[in-house]
Amino acid sequence: MLTPGPVAIPEQAREVLGRPIMHHRTEAFAEVFARVAEGLKWVFQTQNTVLTLTSSGTGAFEAAMLNFTRRGQKMISIGGGKFGERWGDMGKALGLEVITMPVEWGRCASPEVLATLLEEHPDTAFVSVSHSETSTGVLHPLKELLDVVRASNADALFAVDGITSVGVHPVPMDEWGIDILVSGSQKAFAVPPGVSFLAANERAWARAKESDHYKYYFDLLREKKKQEGSGQTAFTPAISVILALDVVLQMMREEGLESIWARHEQHSRAMIAAWEAMGGAGFAEVPTHCVSAVRMPEGVDAVKLRALLRDKYGVLVAGAYNEFKPHVLRVGHLGQVHSGEVMAGLAAIEAALLESGARFKQGAGLSAAQIVYTGAMNTEKK
Ligand SMILES: Cc1ncc(COP(=O)(O)O)c(C=O)c1O
Repeated sequence: MLTPGPVAIPEQAREVLGRPIMHHRTEAFAEVFARVAEGLKWVFQTQNTVLTLTSSGTGAFEAAMLNFTRRGQKMISIGGGKFGERWGDMGKALGLEVITMPVEWGRCASPEVLATLLEEHPDTAFVSVSHSETSTGVLHPLKELLDVVRASNADALFAVDGITSVGVHPVPMDEWGIDILVSGSQKAFAVPPGVSFLAANERAWARAKESDHYKYYFDLLREKKKQEGSGQTAFTPAISVILALDVVLQMMREEGLESIWARHEQHSRAMIAAWEAMGGAGFAEVPTHCVSAVRMPEGVDAVKLRALLRDKYGVLVAGAYNEFKPHVLRVGHLGQVHSGEVMAGLAAIEAALLESGARFKQGAGLSAAQIVYTGAMNTEKK
């Protein structure tokens, strides 16, 4: 499975998922929960509490908007893909005045355009961005965008959808001064969907007291008090997922953040090099390391190729959205994925591409990936 989430769950975590359920109001669970909370702070690179919520990532972003905004406030939603645009739609649904910053799909958000918008709208209270825009494979320049917000006259909170960037790229929440950072369990954390994470700094929490949206389940002030105080959640959490997360966080600690980031970077370089060698090309201006969005070689239909990969070769990759569907595929490589799995997937992709009529030297894609992974030259006999 080479999809950008849910991703394959490592065996050690699957074993935990099969155990009898543990009750969440017990010492044993509180111990696990405390360890998970510390592990999340480490991955989020923050001293802020990282709340664990029982919802998918979208739920955590909605929780952020419910608690850190007021109805009628102005929001700039940085577009450029399905997820970036989702936060603007959410803002509208919650009664905010949303200004969408248009970004061409496949391109990076421009800090200059954001600066102009902030100049026009100095009363902006909330800026949202999907750091790693999984729908287009783009990594937006987060630090530059944040610097522009801080340099403007707007006293805006900067809310980051780090759903596929946290645990893949460095997102130093405290060092950069990110106000709100959200992620999800089924991505770099390689456990089943159902749990999301939300960290907010003091600036954001100060706004929570003024929020006027209706909320109950996602009342974060109550949730924070509970999680910080007793080490328990306000409501029944996705216990098994949290137990599995404890295991994966331990694996992540053993690997180390820098190695994790480097591993994902290598997957991204290997995947894009392979597609270039097979007559395709990368789609994103700056690729996120969680997924490679790739353009098809001449004459290959992405929808048919995806079906062939799934039905004949047993390899699942993701399709693209909108008008890009026939031209672009998204090959995921995040979580506990190692080079052997990426290369196995590429071997199937290479065969399926040849079968679909692409013209390139057999083995060229895999060879290009091997060169990235080994750092070696092509040793073909002259
Ligand atoms: C960047 C990004 N944001 C948001 C989401 C939505 O997350 P969820 O499906 O967990 O609600 C995804 C899911 O793929 C994503 O990749």
